[in-house]
Amino acid sequence: MVSGPAFKEVLRGLDETHHVAEGYQADVLLRWGDPLFSDSPAFDPMNQTEASQLRQFGFNNDYIGFVPLEENRGLLCVNHEYVSTALMQPGVVENYPDSMTRERCAVELAAHGGTVVEIVFDGRQWNVVRDSKYNRRITPHKTPMEVTGPAAGHPRLKTSDDPSGRLVAGTMNNCAGGITPWGTWLMAEENFNVHFLGELPEGHPEAANHKRYGIPWARYQWGRHFSRFDISSEPNEPNRFGWIVEVDPMNPDSKPKKRTALGRFKHEGAESVVAPDGRVVIYMGDDQQFDYVYKFVSAKAVDKTNPAANVDLLDEGTLYVARFDADGTLDWMPLVFGEGPLTPENGFRSQADVLIETRRSADLLGATPMDRPEDVEPHAGSGRAWVMLTNNSAREADQVDAANPRAKNRFGHIVEISEPNGDFTATKSRWDILLRCGDPTVAEYGAAWNPETSEAGWFTCPDNCAVDPRGRLWVATDGNERTGSADGLWCVEVDGANRAKSKAFFRVPVGAELCGPRFTADGRTLFVAIQHPGDGRGASFEKPSTRWPDFRDDMPPRPSVMVVRKDDGGFIGD
Ligand code: FEO
Ligand code: CA
Ligand code: CA
Repeated sequence: MVSGPAFKEVLRGLDETHHVAEGYQADVLLRWGDPLFSDSPAFDPMNQTEASQLRQFGFNNDYIGFVPLEENRGLLCVNHEYVSTALMQPGVVENYPDSMTRERCAVELAAHGGTVVEIVFDGRQWNVVRDSKYNRRITPHKTPMEVTGPAAGHPRLKTSDDPSGRLVAGTMNNCAGGITPWGTWLMAEENFNVHFLGELPEGHPEAANHKRYGIPWARYQWGRHFSRFDISSEPNEPNRFGWIVEVDPMNPDSKPKKRTALGRFKHEGAESVVAPDGRVVIYMGDDQQFDYVYKFVSAKAVDKTNPAANVDLLDEGTLYVARFDADGTLDWMPLVFGEGPLTPENGFRSQADVLIETRRSADLLGATPMDRPEDVEPHAGSGRAWVMLTNNSAREADQVDAANPRAKNRFGHIVEISEPNGDFTATKSRWDILLRCGDPTVAEYGAAWNPETSEAGWFTCPDNCAVDPRGRLWVATDGNERTGSADGLWCVEVDGANRAKSKAFFRVPVGAELCGPRFTADGRTLFVAIQHPGDGRGASFEKPSTRWPDFRDDMPPRPSVMVVRKDDGGFIGD
């Protein structure tokens, strides 16, 4: 039996700074703009350039992966999901979008993607190794990537820059992700649609496909200056995003690979587990109202003794989408060309079409439309996986089902998947609801927690999550601030009499959400990403809601990665 968390809870509240449970220390490790190389320019928020940002830590840190090196050293792999233009750049609010010059858009491009950075533990704290040979920035426009798997080279992926359909300039909107059992980093491309503007020519064959993915959206202005983001000139460019990207952090010169076998959707994350037969299984959510939960099962087993043998393991396997039935069974339905409705009669000519249009394929299979699937975290020790369903205020009463039981679901819930006998490759599984989020004292909300949960312990809008080495589930939120108390990190028990009891561990500054909780294997260090601090209605570079973490009048708030340790160096949560 997993022991319950022993820390004293952080109380509800909302203010300009972060708060961690008593007896713990939280330190800033990396801030947006921090130098990653010995030649990186110092951060100058009033004079941001593309060249400087390419040598500095990017914006809006999300996923955090940790790849251990020799003792006391490791590589942090951090996603930079998106940019908050008004908070990031001075003077854009009044005349946005016209103030978004080409150089300003290039700064935004350079702030997306990811960072690999070596860190070392000196016995007391973790420090950045600025001149490490591993340090690397990955961006949407300066990091050539290979497309691999069934959709590689398909005509629908060809553009004027890339007539091969196999080479993309980079990755963007990398939300959560995963570290594979062989030590590579998976970056999930999520809300890529927000960067595409323009209109397709009348009657263009990609029109329905793009519509299903929310394209065009034009929330950002890149397409005004970089024609590949304008679908009127590059109608296929969107088909080159929405994939899982695999990066080898041990080789800074390696070309990342977009693994098309894992499907194309708004990938939230890609956490993996090795099944009893040795195959790797990757759980994934498509973060959109009424979209789906997926898992990918590799065709071959992981070679644990020879990491090099796993290099292309993710190019071959089966992608499944979930149907949650009311009797507690879960059917994992394969997305395979030629099977069921995935045939030429429905417009599919190959597996590439099935994958490029993963969402339509899953629609046709009758997958269960969910309340915005965010992270899905498998746990080898218990044969389970937990699905964070953040919220879905668009669900009407006549759309309620067993797995999404609340109309106008503003608070979200957590579904627990149990794979039979721990066989993560199973296609018939069981599911249950672990908890329904929200304030349990308001009966009409329909929240469901263990009654031992305190006033500080309940939360809303689960987003990222992690399982610690003791098997405890830690849940990060994005949207709890709307209840009057900041977002943060909670520890949830999943077994025994205290199942669904939650305790508040960490609170972020106003405007922020908490992303990427990551424990080291010894359970003594926890990395957390503080994303978009100071954001909120009307917030801007000039008027943020906090200037965390520097609290200097000449410094905007800065998304940052923090390190949490127990004062006595002990196991976090004990
Ligand atoms: Fe990027 Fe679904 O959170
Ligand atoms: Ca997320
Ligand atoms: Ca989020």
